[in-house]
Amino acid sequence: MSSKPQDETLNRRSFLRAGGLAVAGIASANAARAETAKPDPLITEEQNWHKYLGDGVDKYPYGMPSKFEKGVIRKNVPWLTAETTSSINFTPLHQQDGIITPSGLCFERHHSGMAEIDPASHRLMINGMVEKPLVFTMDDLKRMPRINRVYFLECAANSGMEWRGAQLNGCQFTHGMIHNVMYAGVSLKTLLNEAGLKPNAKWLMLEGADASGLNRSLPLEKALDDVMIAFGMNGEALRPEQGYPLRAVIPGWQGNMWVKWLRRIEVGDQPWETREETSKYTDLLADGTARRHTFVMDAKSVITNPSPQAPLKFKGRNVLSGFAWSGRGTVKRVDVTLDGGKNWQTARIEGPILEKSMVQFYLDFDWTGQEMLIQSRAMDSTSYVQPTKADLRKVRGVNSIYHNNGIQTWLVKANGEAENVEIS
Ligand code: MTE
Repeated sequence: MSSKPQDETLNRRSFLRAGGLAVAGIASANAARAETAKPDPLITEEQNWHKYLGDGVDKYPYGMPSKFEKGVIRKNVPWLTAETTSSINFTPLHQQDGIITPSGLCFERHHSGMAEIDPASHRLMINGMVEKPLVFTMDDLKRMPRINRVYFLECAANSGMEWRGAQLNGCQFTHGMIHNVMYAGVSLKTLLNEAGLKPNAKWLMLEGADASGLNRSLPLEKALDDVMIAFGMNGEALRPEQGYPLRAVIPGWQGNMWVKWLRRIEVGDQPWETREETSKYTDLLADGTARRHTFVMDAKSVITNPSPQAPLKFKGRNVLSGFAWSGRGTVKRVDVTLDGGKNWQTARIEGPILEKSMVQFYLDFDWTGQEMLIQSRAMDSTSYVQPTKADLRKVRGVNSIYHNNGIQTWLVKANGEAENVEIS
């Protein structure tokens, strides 16, 4: 019995048309007053949901967000790439609150589309300079000592379109090549210990099972430090988009190294110099030389509200929100300016502060309707301070794509709308 009543007289809207529930109750005693009372213009739905039974517990074996949240989605920028199979979409950071990115909103970057792999026939091989080459099934991996960790993954190309000036209108597009997820898996050190490293082992090569066969070299020191081989994210299995059934988690280092659909780890004594670490993911400098092996993602932050996709709606009390992260440790402090850098206030970091994880920051402020130039600036546990874009360009020029962690500016106009700008 879950049919919704069609009778207009039964729904709350008809009460509202008559001037609201309380007024309707005294209508006969004070008809004139009831006539003049206005319905709330923001109430557009029939408010009859207490008049019928809702859906049963068998409706959604796997739950979905409310239909009213249908605008909270990943988006791509169609002109960025020729094909969607070798492309990227972006996390809607302006709609994320709290440090965990919901699995269905994690940005995706595939070089040859999303592989769909049956975990029963998936294997992980460890070979090369090891005492005992090994092949693991998924069941083998799930019987090894397990760890749980929260880390951000940022693509080195995040903010890459902004090197030559303000370009894309929305933090989803300027900063949304990032997600922050709780992983479950095993430490790579555990697997390497099982295989036994030969004395001259120094580098590893991680290889994916997708059509791109994406492969990257990883220094052994990092592999033995905090690298994870993950099969779980946010309490369930990895999503296909994120490398189901197995991916590498390389905390604090550029996203390209987090090989998805991981099938092989080869141990060697030097880097492999693959495509992804020579012609791509190197940083072209003004003098024409390129920096390579720039693995770490330095401290960075962005204000997500207000921002071009999240304008200010009200004067008076408001909450400014944003995210900050550092690949070198924890975020120690985030400062915010509302006047283009003349005055800075320290924002409130809310929620967990974890190694190589995003933090959420807030600044409660009153808006009188004045134009604002808003920026955030992160400082990490090594006391590194996020640079201005101008300072970054002095060192790097404008030919780079990768590792743009410059301070972002939004212009908030008197009508509350925000725009991507730069302060010269
Ligand atoms: N691994 C494989 N096998 N194939 C890929 O295309 N893309 C890489 C990396 N791992 C990729 C991959 C890049 S460039 C990035 S930024 C991250 O995965 C993106 O991870 P995500 O899709 O979970 O956001």
